Amino acid sequence: MRQAGRYMAEYRAIRARHTFLELCKNSEAAADVTLQPVDKLGVDAAILFADILLIVEPLGVGLTFGAGEGPVIARPVRTDADVAKLPTPDVASALGFVFDTVGRVRKALAGRVPLVGFAGAPFTVASYMVEGGASRDYLHVKRLMYTAPAAWHRLMELLTDATARYLNGQIAAGAEAVQVFDSWIGALAPADYRTFVLPHMKALFSKVTPGIPAIHFGTGTAALLPLLREAGGDVIGLDWRVDLAAGWHAVGHDVAVQGNLDPAVLLAEPVYIRKRAQAVLDAAGGRPGHIFNLGHGIHKDTPVEHVKALVDIVHELSDRR
Ligand code: CP3
Repeated sequence: MRQAGRYMAEYRAIRARHTFLELCKNSEAAADVTLQPVDKLGVDAAILFADILLIVEPLGVGLTFGAGEGPVIARPVRTDADVAKLPTPDVASALGFVFDTVGRVRKALAGRVPLVGFAGAPFTVASYMVEGGASRDYLHVKRLMYTAPAAWHRLMELLTDATARYLNGQIAAGAEAVQVFDSWIGALAPADYRTFVLPHMKALFSKVTPGIPAIHFGTGTAALLPLLREAGGDVIGLDWRVDLAAGWHAVGHDVAVQGNLDPAVLLAEPVYIRKRAQAVLDAAGGRPGHIFNLGHGIHKDTPVEHVKALVDIVHELSDRR
């Protein structure tokens, strides 16, 4: 959940010398940034430093990260003809720098903690490609889905295929688990998820290298949780808008869950953080298969000492020795 990032002084120091995309492409620097939270916070896993949008660069849509405004796609994909023009990306060569980062991190970790790789889910990546950036209502996406469903499905198939190759490339390079971020999926009604997204997510999870745990994360998913479960993943990520006990019940206790502290709680003092961490653990009820995590990405104005305090609190409260 963005454990490496701008709330850390060590990240800002490296970031001052590179643009965000340069940092992602510089395997040595990206590996250093991946390790910062492991060294500084004592978290139980490293998450690869990269971005879900790197995969759209080889599609030629013109990806940039503007200062403060988030990702921008210069040439959005909005019509059947736009989709038809997209090339099949050569993931192995276009994203080889990510695989190099994975290899470096695994070596530097020397088994201390596992390394989690990741990719964006096809819907969330498509949402950036079609909208041209962040969106509130996803009207361009929905117009494409509803008026040109064949083009929508072709776009999803292209992204599903590229994403499977991207995740499996990370696994081949040493990632020990993978997380699929469907961050904006909460914009869809359940029936639309079933028609326009579910078949592609099923295909994606079926292509992930067997034996590697896959985490399926989304936000705003309270009404979609049984469908996310049906789509696949060994772990279902819960954001903070759903009660963890209710969310786990909705996906079924035979699948693991991850979550779900509101990242904004980290703005409060450690005594309060402790109460809220305890509430998440209480909701999990000591059942096996709960991975404590934030419900979504950490905010950039979060005090780093509060994050460190949370890690220590969770270790203390969940210690079963
Ligand atoms: O330790 C980690 O988790 C870092 C790795 C990571 C990043 N992005 C680095 C990043 C991960 C897992 C992501 C995933 C990602 N990227 C998602 C899914 C997760 C989520 O939060 O839902 C999404 C939707 C993106 C797309 C994206 N990338 C956005 C919306 C932004 C702008 C955010 C902002 O606050 O400006 C980015 C940029 C980005 N990705 C940053 C980082 C550390 C900030 C870039 C900077 O240094 O300026």
